[in-house]
Amino acid sequence: MLVDSFGRKHDYLRISLTDQCNFRCLYCMPKENMEFLPNANLMQADEIFKIAQIFVEQGINKIRLTGGEPLLRKDFAQILQQLSKLPVSLTLTSNGYLIEKYLPQLIEAGVKSINLSIDSLKPQNFKHITQRNGFDKVWNAIDLLLKAKFHVKLNVVVMKDNNLPEILDFVKLSIHQKLHVRFIEFMPFTGNAWEQAQVVTHAEIIDLVRTKYTITKLVDEKHETAKKYQITGAKGTFAIISTMSEPFCEDCNRLRLTADGKIKNCLFSAEETHLLKNLREGKQILPVIKQSVWQKKARMGDQFPENYKDTVSAKIENRSMISIGG
Ligand code: 5AD
Ligand code: SF4
Repeated sequence: MLVDSFGRKHDYLRISLTDQCNFRCLYCMPKENMEFLPNANLMQADEIFKIAQIFVEQGINKIRLTGGEPLLRKDFAQILQQLSKLPVSLTLTSNGYLIEKYLPQLIEAGVKSINLSIDSLKPQNFKHITQRNGFDKVWNAIDLLLKAKFHVKLNVVVMKDNNLPEILDFVKLSIHQKLHVRFIEFMPFTGNAWEQAQVVTHAEIIDLVRTKYTITKLVDEKHETAKKYQITGAKGTFAIISTMSEPFCEDCNRLRLTADGKIKNCLFSAEETHLLKNLREGKQILPVIKQSVWQKKARMGDQFPENYKDTVSAKIENRSMISIGG
């Protein structure tokens, strides 16, 4: 097993397939100086499979494909098909725009659960946040996935000026449909103009929802990053990912691989380990993986103060979110 120096066992790997995206959410993709990776630097399909296999031999039992937007990879179907042979639960985080195109392949590969990012239910505001006209396609993707019986989670990054007034509309979605809405506290990454004042916390969201609905706290599964709730009588659920106000590092079981083949042992780690380079040089990569896991810091890459309100985002050494992979 991949165990770190604090005894945390890692069985969940998130693999970013590309740093490109067809949307431009400002909290994710920096406005300036965004240089995309050249194709030669990306892990190729067979390299992804080889690396994934080694992780699986070490106890990884869940793989999530992320981006940028993972469905933009021209060889997405091939990557998916190869990974589906591994004994893992295979999942995806997507912005939904290309879901319709890949629905048959996702079903074929045995994908059961998909996370879609959607930050507004109003086409105009959706366009403001993503800087693209994609609302209808994404809305349609949710419908298609539900009809095809996928477990559908909606990721909503909550920001005071973007979508705070839509929180009640989002939770309402979970009443009549088996949808799982997840509000994510706004996190600082390079180039995303993070401000403490834009963060809406777990406690604030719950207080707001309680003004209109009676809710129950559900039991959270092990390693769950989201705190789950349900409106009384609802078909679906809602949850809050409280990375900023109440981090959940003690229970962390996840590792990340960037599209250019570097291990990030934490979303906020300053250090990265160049796995792909070692693989291409014909070196053994297992010792490199083990060393990276062992070096994982206790909490938030050791880069955050106790109280998130004291965070100085300019001091954090990291990539932009789009180049880490959510
Ligand atoms: N803060 C919180 N969540 C973010 N995501 C991207 N950038 C941020 C941020 N700054 C989310 C995306 C996607 C998930 C992988 O991460 O909306 O749903
Ligand atoms: Fe693209 Fe998702 Fe980032 Fe938006 S949050 S720019 S949809 S990768």
